[in-house]
Amino acid sequence: MGVSVSSVPVHVFDTTLRDGEQSPGCSMTAEEKLIIARQLVRLNVDVIEAGFPVASNDDFDAVKRIAEEIRVPTIAALCRAQPEDITRGAKAIEPAAKPRIHTFIATSDIHLQHKLKMTKPEVLARVKEMVGLAKSHVSDVEFSSEDASRSDVSFLKQVVRTAVDAGATTINLPDTVGYAQPAEYGAMVRQIADMPECAGVTISVHCHDDLGLAVANSLSGIQNGARQVECTVNGIGERAGNASLEEVVMNLKTRPRLFHAHTNVVSQELFRTSRLVAELTGSPVQRNKAIVGANAFAHEAGIHQHGVLANRMTYEIMAAGDVGWKGEDLVIGKHSGKHAIHAVLSGIGIELAPDQLREVVEKVKELGDKQKDVGSDDVIGIAEDVMQRGLTPAFSVLDYVAVTGDKVPATATIKLFKDGTEVTTTAHGIGVVDATFSALTKVLPIQARLQRYSLEAITGGSNALAAITVVLEDESGRKFRSRAVHEDIVLASLKALVNGYNKVLVSGEKNGRNSVSQRQTLHPASNASQRV
Ligand code: KIV
Ligand code: ZN
Repeated sequence: MGVSVSSVPVHVFDTTLRDGEQSPGCSMTAEEKLIIARQLVRLNVDVIEAGFPVASNDDFDAVKRIAEEIRVPTIAALCRAQPEDITRGAKAIEPAAKPRIHTFIATSDIHLQHKLKMTKPEVLARVKEMVGLAKSHVSDVEFSSEDASRSDVSFLKQVVRTAVDAGATTINLPDTVGYAQPAEYGAMVRQIADMPECAGVTISVHCHDDLGLAVANSLSGIQNGARQVECTVNGIGERAGNASLEEVVMNLKTRPRLFHAHTNVVSQELFRTSRLVAELTGSPVQRNKAIVGANAFAHEAGIHQHGVLANRMTYEIMAAGDVGWKGEDLVIGKHSGKHAIHAVLSGIGIELAPDQLREVVEKVKELGDKQKDVGSDDVIGIAEDVMQRGLTPAFSVLDYVAVTGDKVPATATIKLFKDGTEVTTTAHGIGVVDATFSALTKVLPIQARLQRYSLEAITGGSNALAAITVVLEDESGRKFRSRAVHEDIVLASLKALVNGYNKVLVSGEKNGRNSVSQRQTLHPASNASQRV
């Protein structure tokens, strides 16, 4: 099933680090974003949308660090059609080998009237001015008509003409609210792609999944002239998410005679990219998810198993190896060395510094002494713990003692290292974890609400490693996810909470007092996220 002679290239614009990060609870640190960006290079995407630099100092730093390090794909920064956004965006991507400014403004009547409170001539004037400003910074400028699919097509054409005239080299037509149906979305894309003004311009699609049609709409756009597709790994993104990168890529690859289009993505990297993004965002992949779900290549029914054994083509339309699907969990024993552990981690795109790897190997051995088998999930959990440690400078837990019983209220005393000194504090709670959390929050001067607490026993057995994920929400509604792994549930919980508080603290210090007012909602249709 190779690329057919008449196949056209479609550029993959990955927005996992921007639109994907807007998923509730999916915020990432700059370090985590860099790890994902490195994996996106291995996946060979054409464009990485690294973030929304004006949103906060954190976002700016993450985009800048990615722009400094990642050389092959284009690095895009999202900017509203406003001078301060474009200036800040341009600064963040200045170090990039291939910088792109992606600027947008809404064009549907409903957005003009209720959100922007602008007339159509005012929008046209803004597009001309802001695309022009972006062009004064970089030659590669993408313009998006937000809510394009609900915009009046004749106005949309005027907007597109204005943007192209001002220097836009890519025109993106988002189905921002996931409302379009494949045939109508395709028809809109065709009308814009056929405009004589768009002859030398790349038409792009960007679809949301509110009705479960993001991938179908994106493919319809490609069939109607789009040559760039915007998507995210695992389909994460605002509300119901974006078009899933792996699904778009594998549709084109599996049906070349239908689409006559291909991407440059190295499909064998899809599975590990998916797992890496799931790990670092704390958003697990559903088992039955197309392409990368744990069940995607599993055959349960006897009749299917029989067919597959006779010839895989009976029930499999893709080879598992084509998406890099690894099959069953690799078992790591206590005698496994650095290479096996490195292989597990690099298998999902985590590359550790040598001292971090040494620490992980030590901890795996320690765990191996306590339990018989150590699975790859244990190894990943330990590595995450080690990686997070480098990000937690402000305070740490030194020890705790807790007492509880059926008739005895839980009481915990914890010893912390805070502001250079040891602090001891005691509190009661409903259970030991609650008591330790109460003790911790008594002495920390941070305003953040515990929004989610989840516990996963990574391996079976009562001596399993416990992986705790917490999500904290700061005063401005920003969410901070952190995870910790330990064989003691209480210690794992405390470590996760402390990691989370440290993230809130560091971010607050970086962003200063004004960070709240700078944050804007990109998608007015969503009340849930104030992420950008
Ligand atoms: O969904 C959308 O309209 C967007 C734009 C900012 C491109 O994400
Ligand atoms: Zn979007």
